[in-house]
Amino acid sequence: MLSPTLFPIFCALFLCLPVAVIFTVQRELTGVVSPEFGFRSLSVFSLYTRNVPDASSTAVRIPKDDESLLRLASRVNPNQPPGSTRKLAFMFITTSSLPFAPLWEMFFNGSSKDLYNVYVHADPTRDYDPPLSGVFTNRVIHSKPSIRYTPTLAAAARRLISHALLDDPLNYMFALISPSCVPIRSFHFTYKTLVSSRKSFIEILKDEPWQFDRWAARGEYAMLPEVKLEEFRIGSQFWVLKRRHARVVARDRRIWEKFNKTCVREDTCYPEENYFPTLLNMRDPRGCVPATLTHVDWTINDGGHPRMYEPEEVVPDLILRLRKTRPRYGEDGINGSDWSVVERNDPFLFARKFSPVALEPLLGMAGSVLFNDSAGCV
Ligand SMILES: *[C@@H]1O[C@H](CO)[C@@H](O)[C@H](O)[C@H]1NC(C)=O
Ligand SMILES: *[C@@H]1O[C@H](CO)[C@@H](O)[C@H](O)[C@H]1NC(C)=O
Ligand SMILES: *[C@@H]1O[C@H](CO)[C@@H](O)[C@H](O)[C@H]1NC(C)=O
Ligand SMILES: *[C@@H]1O[C@H](CO)[C@@H](O)[C@H](O)[C@H]1NC(C)=O
Repeated sequence: MLSPTLFPIFCALFLCLPVAVIFTVQRELTGVVSPEFGFRSLSVFSLYTRNVPDASSTAVRIPKDDESLLRLASRVNPNQPPGSTRKLAFMFITTSSLPFAPLWEMFFNGSSKDLYNVYVHADPTRDYDPPLSGVFTNRVIHSKPSIRYTPTLAAAARRLISHALLDDPLNYMFALISPSCVPIRSFHFTYKTLVSSRKSFIEILKDEPWQFDRWAARGEYAMLPEVKLEEFRIGSQFWVLKRRHARVVARDRRIWEKFNKTCVREDTCYPEENYFPTLLNMRDPRGCVPATLTHVDWTINDGGHPRMYEPEEVVPDLILRLRKTRPRYGEDGINGSDWSVVERNDPFLFARKFSPVALEPLLGMAGSVLFNDSAGCV
């Protein structure tokens, strides 16, 4: 309910709204950027009209239906305005809660808000307990249920990308983060590594076991002619994309139509691990470092889930060991003209999966190890 004293403010904002909409649409099309102006100024409007945990500051500007959302996002300026601050978009995708929210809070603590944005895609049919707070307050985008073995997880990531593209023209790198994932470097280190990269980080593997079955999961010839078996790629669903690649994702219809089909076989249906590597490998393989910076241990495979670290395993040595590991690089580039991957050794920035009850030991070594970039160095 509106309180009587707020009513005049409400009316004033309401009258300004069409003007602001026109202004912003224009800004979107011309690519002219002024970050301190535009829809952010409408957040006060949304504050008084809704009290749900939602990315309310942007609810007016950003369409809720996927079709319009993707269409608008596909038209953003793929380039960063020259000389502007580069921001990281941290995009959390969850169906339950964010057990490591307090750790992320520490990760962001002390860093300028001008260097990053947080977005959350959360299953709207679930309750969030504890409710999202701190840096996660009001950062939930318009979300839909996302379910394993269906294209809905990849669709959620496309929604996050489109939302982040539209929300802030200064978003420069787009990192997808799972609720069981934790940062293993300081914000400063993470920021420097990502904004200084000329390429996206996305694992792109070919000829992996189950390649044919994954390709044929929607029916034997369902991917043809757009995606041939030899064009099909596999990789971690957790990547960091450059702005121009985020726009490639928002623009894509042709390849998405194939991956958005319902699977006829569930056990080989992981569209979120196939769609992004396949698409980016088709569009701009040279623009990608074919590796993920989110460490994961698949030496244990528990029904399609990787190893989960339990609290007693979460000691400084584990984190230091994960940091020292060299990522696995896809080999597409090795045999082309790009020998650079052979020599690369990019640092892991994140790691998964951690059991929710591992929060305590992680918090305990946050300052001394996790966010201490010289930890373990002698
Ligand atoms: C953030 O940092 C400030 C100052 O260093 C400190 O007082 C505060 O407790 C920190 N908050 C969190 C959530 O770590
Ligand atoms: C994906 O498929 C679903 C179910 O068939 C459909 O409702 C949705 O519109 C499709 N999404 C896109 C973006 O094509
Ligand atoms: C590169 O390609 C050549 C011939 O196509 C092949 O003999 C060689 O084994 C390949 N090397 C790698 C590292 O894949
Ligand atoms: C960070 O690690 C170094 C090297 O192990 C150590 O000397 C230093 O005390 C640590 N910093 C904090 C804040 O714990």
